[in-house]
Amino acid sequence: MNTQKWIQHFETNTRLNHELKLPDTACALPEAARDALARSIAIFQLGESGGGTRLRRYTRSIASLERLKGYERAVDLFVAEEQSHAALLARTVVHLRGTLLKKQWSNSVFRWMRNLVNLEFNIQVLLTAELIAEVYFGLLSLRCSDPVVQTVARKLLRDEMGHLSFQRDFLFERLITLTPAMQRVWRWQFRAIHMATAWVVSWDHRDCLRSLDVTPAAFRGRAARCWESFQSRLERRLQEHETHARQSAESTPGYSRSSNATMQSPVS
Ligand SMILES: [Fe+2]
Ligand SMILES: [Fe+2]
Repeated sequence: MNTQKWIQHFETNTRLNHELKLPDTACALPEAARDALARSIAIFQLGESGGGTRLRRYTRSIASLERLKGYERAVDLFVAEEQSHAALLARTVVHLRGTLLKKQWSNSVFRWMRNLVNLEFNIQVLLTAELIAEVYFGLLSLRCSDPVVQTVARKLLRDEMGHLSFQRDFLFERLITLTPAMQRVWRWQFRAIHMATAWVVSWDHRDCLRSLDVTPAAFRGRAARCWESFQSRLERRLQEHETHARQSAESTPGYSRSSNATMQSPVS
């Protein structure tokens, strides 16, 4: 994994969030829309505000792997970027005259889920949230007429797309250590968890979605397309890796096609 690329990316990009100037205008949205948006954004704000303690602990446990050198530092910077998102969203909630949250049920379920299994699972649940965030901030930037919400949503959308790419790089490194059958199991459970999360979010944020003229079903449809796009890119990389490994094996002296039939998959 090219962790140096990510370290540089986060160092440059997070600074932009601290310096981001928001339009100096009062919120002019109708009362019901303002209220629904403020509540919804406050939930996302709470989700972005974690300190990453467990994620960092998990990261330390794989820090010695050769292919993940520098990953620990990259995760520290990634967590810092998420905290800069929390700060931007807090400014947005204040602008919308909403209330910042300390606890909220869907956020608590989400945090509990993240720590159920191991680092890969923690990252996967985090990734699920980022795929949902991509849809959410995309809709806010396109459909909310408030200039402060638009400015923040546009920046967060760009950042979350970077995060998706960062997580994909990490998952690729971990998935190449699994057999093709286990990769399929992983895909299935990832899809199931993502679908369940999209249902919960589309229900929990239904008032906000209504104010943006988006139905919960349309939100879930967009979320499913984002998942497909993420997953197909990941699978393309895994296939390329497998093809490359097979070609390397074929060019190795002593390799024969008949022996290949009984060989294990190069990625197992
Ligand atoms: Fe974020
Ligand atoms: Fe993120």
